[in-house]
Amino acid sequence: MNNLDNPTIFLREDYLAPNFAIDQVYLEFSLNPNKTIVKSTLHMRRLGPGSLVLKGEELELISIAVNQEDYRDFEVNSKELTVHHLPEVFDLEINCSNQPNINSSLMGLYVSNDNFFTQCEAEGFRKITYFLDQPDVLTKFTVKLNASKVDYPVLLSNGNLIEEGELNNGWHFAVWEDPFPKPSYLFALVAGKLEVLERQYITNSGSKKLLQIWVEKKDLSRTKHAMESLIHSIEWDEKRFGLELDLERFMIVAVGDFNMGAMENKGLNIFNTKYVLADQHTATDIDFANIESVVGHEYFHNWTGNRVTCRDWFQLSLKEGLTVFRDQEFSADLMGSDSGRTVKRIEDVRLLRQVQFPEDAGPMAHPIRPDSYQEINNFYTVTVYEKGAEVVRMLHTLLGETGFMKGMKLYFARHDGQAVTCDDFLACMADANQFDAKQFQYWYSQAGTPQVSIKEQYNEVAKTYTLQISQTCPPTPNQSVKAPFHIPLKTKLLVPGQASDEFLIELKETEQQVVLKNIQTKPILSINRDFSAPVILNFDQPENELLFLFDQDDNAFNRWEAIQKIASNNILNNIAPSDPLIEGYRKLMLDPTLDPAFKELCFTLPAETYLHEQLETVDPQIVHHAKVHYQNVLGVRLINEWENLYEANLIASPYSPNAVDAGKRALKNFALKMLLDSNLAKFEAIAFEQLKNCDNMTDFLAALTLLVHYESSFAAEALNLFYQRHQGNDLALDKWFAIQASKPPKQSGKIVQDIRKLKLHSDFKMRNPNRVRSVIHTFCMNNPAGFHDASGEGYEFWYDNVLELDGINPQVAARLARALDRWKKFDAPYQAIMHSQLEKLLTNPLSNDVKEVIQKALN
Ligand code: PHE
Ligand code: ZN
Repeated sequence: MNNLDNPTIFLREDYLAPNFAIDQVYLEFSLNPNKTIVKSTLHMRRLGPGSLVLKGEELELISIAVNQEDYRDFEVNSKELTVHHLPEVFDLEINCSNQPNINSSLMGLYVSNDNFFTQCEAEGFRKITYFLDQPDVLTKFTVKLNASKVDYPVLLSNGNLIEEGELNNGWHFAVWEDPFPKPSYLFALVAGKLEVLERQYITNSGSKKLLQIWVEKKDLSRTKHAMESLIHSIEWDEKRFGLELDLERFMIVAVGDFNMGAMENKGLNIFNTKYVLADQHTATDIDFANIESVVGHEYFHNWTGNRVTCRDWFQLSLKEGLTVFRDQEFSADLMGSDSGRTVKRIEDVRLLRQVQFPEDAGPMAHPIRPDSYQEINNFYTVTVYEKGAEVVRMLHTLLGETGFMKGMKLYFARHDGQAVTCDDFLACMADANQFDAKQFQYWYSQAGTPQVSIKEQYNEVAKTYTLQISQTCPPTPNQSVKAPFHIPLKTKLLVPGQASDEFLIELKETEQQVVLKNIQTKPILSINRDFSAPVILNFDQPENELLFLFDQDDNAFNRWEAIQKIASNNILNNIAPSDPLIEGYRKLMLDPTLDPAFKELCFTLPAETYLHEQLETVDPQIVHHAKVHYQNVLGVRLINEWENLYEANLIASPYSPNAVDAGKRALKNFALKMLLDSNLAKFEAIAFEQLKNCDNMTDFLAALTLLVHYESSFAAEALNLFYQRHQGNDLALDKWFAIQASKPPKQSGKIVQDIRKLKLHSDFKMRNPNRVRSVIHTFCMNNPAGFHDASGEGYEFWYDNVLELDGINPQVAARLARALDRWKKFDAPYQAIMHSQLEKLLTNPLSNDVKEVIQKALN
């Protein structure tokens, strides 16, 4: 924590294979919250010359032995243990200790609610013991856990339980053995007072598996959905990818203090409680869907991540991009209909555009396979994950399902049990399909969102239709000039009353012409269907054509895309919705054949952060008010229809989180929002009634959000009702806080002081990442009008909290630090204050994590 130090920059091109192998490790833990002793015995083999350099941080070294003899030929500092003059083959025994109780970074071994947990990805294992803590060192682990039996009745680690028993003084032990060699980042242990939900599972090939979900006793009744999600995940991976569970036992453990969503430790996934616990009274439809997708994601890592892992952390997208693609497909398949698939696709694309496009245009822009980093924790990004998944999806589009699966088959045949690179993955896709991936690889090496410009020309006489397509990619840090990408564009020419086929344009050149013959009348272009490529499309399509696509395109994604384009144009140019547009909306509302979830997505206006990206310079208050105004016009002009939609989508049957009912609730609650938006006094009572009478969190939370955000006279009472009902339930209280932190400023003006007050609430906990995110991150990243207050008080709040958090949990602080990423894009007065807060922050001692983000922002 010293800014005078020059930060180390790690480069992809500096990769060196390890000079030692660890064939086996035997770990013995004496678990004590104040001081845990770890005895590690490594069976090692020399692979190359030199000393052995083991990583280790925040450890106290007790002793070292080589081949059972005390050993002194070593040096140790705060980061490394270097052991000299080692033989070809030997046993290295290391005794050290760490302090779980004071570990607030939630990396390594830590205590949460009196139980022990570990988090090792990416570099947490080195806070447990000295090790070759890098993903290309694969080792067979045997783990013995010793702990007090009353305090820690449950003792878990990876693999299979091979022994357990009693010790002296009320202690007991358990020995776990993982048959699969794995990198240290996949190690896990859990010890504490936990209860379990169990199921049996028989795989396709007939072997019996034990599935377990471990939680605190009070939470056991809320684990059913996670278990069903796990079973669906196992079935889906067998069916769609032909991949079976390879362990006798698969465990999920939930923990309330966790930096991320969940972690795919071999056979012992550790989850943020947010992605495990659900029942209708405390979780929303979105929570249910997220749990299914995260449970799937972690399970799918067992093959894409664990059986085949990453050679180094620059290859992170090898496992993450591929696994996100797999979880997206899993969720899409489980939607159970084509329109459900489209809904899922739209949600994924919205996230990409709202969060990844800004990242790719800002100071932290990096290729999905980065070339350098100062702190690897900063590279668990939407680029590595979501854009990484888009790149895999483009391969799927180019090769087709059959070709893609051939590539996957070859990937496992070649690399099962290995630590490999993105190039190795791409080579499998190419070799299995005779696909030339030379140009496609730029998606891995170049950052930035490509811009594709389209000009069309129809020749009446020759009956030809010509597309002039060009691509550029803006400069990004350390990459000023880009080579053209290989861009797959699913395309169709629509002519009213005529059938036509979809085709694939493979854009490879900077400029490319596509000429289509025998086109009898001027067609309407439907391009980048299903968002087949993650690009920004510049194509001036007139509103009447967009309305035609909105109404008629047989690609439902592009129907949504057309209406979003119209809405963006109108909001950014302050144009009121035209009469034909209002008619288009009305028709959509009344169409009985359309999925309510799809309708809701069509009505939902583009996010403010997405609108910001389309402007040269941003006045966030102007954008906010333009959007609010536009929405209000839609509310007022269609008021009767909104009332009807609200009524028509009430559900009489008991609550179920299935996609159809969830879609109805989403549409109904959107209608409610439009009603309150157009006339609060008239409709707020409906919202309050809904809140009091509903049987589920989705409807309750939707009504509460509206009452609070619209400053209804019922707001205080409604908030109080929620609080009384859910006191003591952390996940529910997170929602209670988040609603208040995301409230846009209304008549009341600034809301920064309200957010500061929220932090003083007795349930606010600066050490709990979920709670911190629900207040601080929500305000700074999810409340643009509140945060970007012209006074700059939002930015001051940001400064105070980044600094405070950095002393507790650098990863969580660094995420927050990124709220000012796009400061250069804002109008001068905003920009100036953001800039001064960024500079001021850098005058403090900072973690590597935060320092990297701030330095890059200022560059
Ligand atoms: N590997 C985890 C996932 O994608 C994410 C994670 C990274 C969790 C680092 C914890 C720490 O599923
Ligand atoms: Zn993952």
